[in-house]
Amino acid sequence: MIHLKNLGIGFKSTTLLSGVNLQIKDEESFVLLGPSGHGKSILLKVIAGIMPPTEGQVIIAGHDMAGLTELEKHEIMFNMGMLFQKNALFDSMTVGENIAFPLMEVRGLNEKQADTIVDRYLEAVGILEAKALYPDEISGGMQKRLGIARALSLTPKIVLYDDPTAGLDPITSRKIITLIKDMKSQQKSTLVTITNNMNRAFEMADRLGVVIDGELIVTGSVEQTKNHPDKRVQQFINGQLKGPLTRDFND
Ligand SMILES: Nc1ncnc2c1ncn2[C@@H]1O[C@H](COP(=O)(O)OP(=O)(O)OP(=O)(O)O)[C@@H](O)[C@H]1O
Ligand SMILES: [Mg+2]
Repeated sequence: MIHLKNLGIGFKSTTLLSGVNLQIKDEESFVLLGPSGHGKSILLKVIAGIMPPTEGQVIIAGHDMAGLTELEKHEIMFNMGMLFQKNALFDSMTVGENIAFPLMEVRGLNEKQADTIVDRYLEAVGILEAKALYPDEISGGMQKRLGIARALSLTPKIVLYDDPTAGLDPITSRKIITLIKDMKSQQKSTLVTITNNMNRAFEMADRLGVVIDGELIVTGSVEQTKNHPDKRVQQFINGQLKGPLTRDFND
């Protein structure tokens, strides 16, 4: 479903990542780990087609993104949903409108058709009662739920989640991950999720990878990742588990 071939990613003269190779199968759940600032979010944006790589190919469902016209590229991007690290909600729109807007703009639905879907997804993520409120009037956990509902309302084949539990308490984090897993099995989608919450990562991943020091180390299954021979991988995983614990790592 997602094939990254010898990718290089960078800005102007700086190279952030190189030699990135990864194949993610249909309906697989892949989790990206790695220290802050090493390029996880940027890699997700390259997969989403928001940013072009400096080298290599991004192949989505057999289509090389670089070889497509803008129209064809948008067609592929419409089949991907993304939850951004900072949610990227429309602040001047209500919760309901945040979901309705892309449905009308992207899918071309009318207001009534969109409204039916809005209710269905708000209900699914458990925030229907907040429909008429604005994003700054709801809690951080509810904002995450809204971001997830908005991404999933377009029933994308591929869903990219950037740090879906960041800043949430352990109970809410767990609920969000359960929601993501439930929605995945309902929609039969392929997931790429960034998180540094190890327990949640191991709970939801079929396979994992660590973005560190300019490369992506595909570490394999949960067991393979826990026993991975690369010292940096071990340091990263154990540092998070046994080091000074933050609330996010502690649950
Ligand atoms: N538009 C840009 N121009 C130049 N550098 C950028 C740009 N966007 C991001 N970077 C740099 O790329 C690096 C990787 O950023 P990225 O957001 O991918 O990190 P991350 O691994 O997601 O970190 P975190 O875990 O804190 O979210 C950072 O050093 C950042 O400053
Ligand atoms: Mg990030």
